[in-house]
Amino acid sequence: MELKGLILSGGKGTRLRPLTHTRAKQLIPIAGKPNLFYAVEDLQAAGIRDIGVILSPETGEEVRAALGDGGRFGVRFTYILQEAPLGIAHAVKTAQPFLGDSPFVLYLGDNLLSGGIQHLVAEYRQTRPEAIVLLCPVENPRAFGVVVLDGSGRVVRLLEKPAEPPSNLALVGVYLFGPAIHPIIHRLKPSARGEYEITEAIQGLVDEGLRVVAHQVRGWWKDTGKPEDLLDANRLALSSFVRRVEGELEEAEVVGEVVVEPGARIVRSTVRGPAYIGPGALVQDSFIGPYTSLGRGAVVRSSEVEYSILMDEAQVHALPYRLDSSILGQGVVVDGQGQTRRHTLQLVLGDRSRVRL
Ligand code: TTP
Repeated sequence: MELKGLILSGGKGTRLRPLTHTRAKQLIPIAGKPNLFYAVEDLQAAGIRDIGVILSPETGEEVRAALGDGGRFGVRFTYILQEAPLGIAHAVKTAQPFLGDSPFVLYLGDNLLSGGIQHLVAEYRQTRPEAIVLLCPVENPRAFGVVVLDGSGRVVRLLEKPAEPPSNLALVGVYLFGPAIHPIIHRLKPSARGEYEITEAIQGLVDEGLRVVAHQVRGWWKDTGKPEDLLDANRLALSSFVRRVEGELEEAEVVGEVVVEPGARIVRSTVRGPAYIGPGALVQDSFIGPYTSLGRGAVVRSSEVEYSILMDEAQVHALPYRLDSSILGQGVVVDGQGQTRRHTLQLVLGDRSRVRL
């Protein structure tokens, strides 16, 4: 039976406020592309065409408008409304009519994975375990679902955000499941934090003696729950960029792996890659340092910006400090008086904020 995809794009995104007051966290751009698009592309590249997308009542329309019917990605989307963010297992339960008895890839829409999922899907097709989970060693396992393996690499125990983590292996937000997960999810009770936990459902598979296979992530993985994660994801995604300059350069120095989209202009400025300059963006009398992404129509004038994300139409003018490790929402305007630049400034500003420095 063909595998389906299930992308989770609901949730609350509380840890990304103020950015998520006005937009779905899955639509925050990473290296010039909404976070969510990476999940769709991974599924598509693994040959999965039939994809369910979990939406929340708050951001559902926005996500649906960004994704469309799937034609532009070469897939078909079925949108599924989850009335409340009651947990990842609850989202799977909500999608059960769409999933039927098909095996499926569950992909959290705010996760990014280098190297794609083709090898996992191929393995699933060949060996048909009841689940494949992906693991990544992390420094702060208390913040994740944590897995304990036995000597042969089989999953024996899963714990959600444990106070005393028994290992440093975190569950990555990409899973493959056969249909046995559904009756287990049906029997789940909400956890202490009031959510239906996917870790508990996978524990249920293990307890029934079903085969749950674990793999370590190849390359990198990022769960973009917090602002610093977005910046790190932006860095990682930009790291694989290959230089492509299609915009206009006037007295500009553009060094290394930089993408300058059509209609963008770099004037009397230096851009040091890896960096992404979106369509129609303007960089004038400025310095753009490594790991910076500028959205469509963004403007940087007489300023220095490094290791930052400026969303569409965000503007900075004559900043007295170097903007560093910052995220500026859509249409944000930051105005300065343009004096000394001895210090750096870190800002995380929600869409359409206005700041004078
Ligand atoms: P989380 O990051 O665990 O939750 P959240 O989006 O509510 O964020 P926060 O903790 O900052 O409030 O969610 C992981 C992904 O799964 C994310 O893309 C949102 C999605 N999700 C759902 O679609 N439905 C749900 O019920 C939950 C909990 C998450």
